[in-house]
Amino acid sequence: MRILRTIADVRAAVRAARRDDRTVGLVPTMGAFHDGHLSLMRTARADSDLVVVSLFVNPTQFGANEDLGSYPRDEARDAALAEAAGVDILFAPDVAEIYPDGFATTIHVAELTDVLDGASRGPHHFDGVATVVTKLFGIVRPDAAYFGRKDAQQVLVVRRVVRDLDLDVRIVPCPIVREADGLAMSSRNVYLDRASRARATALNRALDAGEAVFATGERDAEAILSAARRVLDHAGIAPEYLELRDAETLRDVTTVERDALLAVAARVGGARLIDNHLLTVS
Ligand code: PAJ
Repeated sequence: MRILRTIADVRAAVRAARRDDRTVGLVPTMGAFHDGHLSLMRTARADSDLVVVSLFVNPTQFGANEDLGSYPRDEARDAALAEAAGVDILFAPDVAEIYPDGFATTIHVAELTDVLDGASRGPHHFDGVATVVTKLFGIVRPDAAYFGRKDAQQVLVVRRVVRDLDLDVRIVPCPIVREADGLAMSSRNVYLDRASRARATALNRALDAGEAVFATGERDAEAILSAARRVLDHAGIAPEYLELRDAETLRDVTTVERDALLAVAARVGGARLIDNHLLTVS
């Protein structure tokens, strides 16, 4: 595996692969790898010839009061894990390589970003994500790019950018990877002390409870949400949001008639955690 720092070096490596008719897969990340990240890399490895992983803690997607400064960073560990997962190129640029002086462009996706994390973290968040992902697509020009469903809204936002700007990249959503007790893996789980780590399982248990009600045939959103809310209440967690939204448009749902996303965000101990379950209507 090669670790590259510059856009020019990545372009040269990708150009060489393309000359040999090799396909290119991209996994964008902010590092602090866990099995969620590694599952994306393995999926990319299985269906692309050249696998590029970007490792860039993107400052523009963090709010002023968020954890940019304390975000976990350990490039040597990440490089070893990526290499073991079969990655060919780890693109780890510094901030000036991605945002040189004079950088002035922002990609903003309307509507989809007004709700859930867009509302809770503010509009800068998905503007930052959409802009950096678009840049990464421009730098790597991958055939396919791999994203985790843990960040379900991010997948929808990236898909919309690709569709609206006619970018020639296939977006591959990948399943949520969880700890044995159901907690969705996250780089931010390292912020949890023992007590918070135990309480954090309430997020997935709440979504399970909502899904169990849905599985009985219940289609009333409030009935599904209140089952989930009871689990959070019991764990003493006041969520930033707990919502049921259309899985494609993210519009509010009162009666589930199409696939819906049951999504939660909450602060537990020092960490802001998110999780979701897809409720599928057969
Ligand atoms: P990051 O949080 O590092 O996540 C990188 C990718 O890993 C994302 O596609 C995310 O959805 C996926 N992922 C994280 N936890 C997962 C889990 N438990 N199961 C499956 N996939 C998981 O998301 C970002 O970085 C950034 O916003 C980025 C897209 C890199 C833009 O800066």
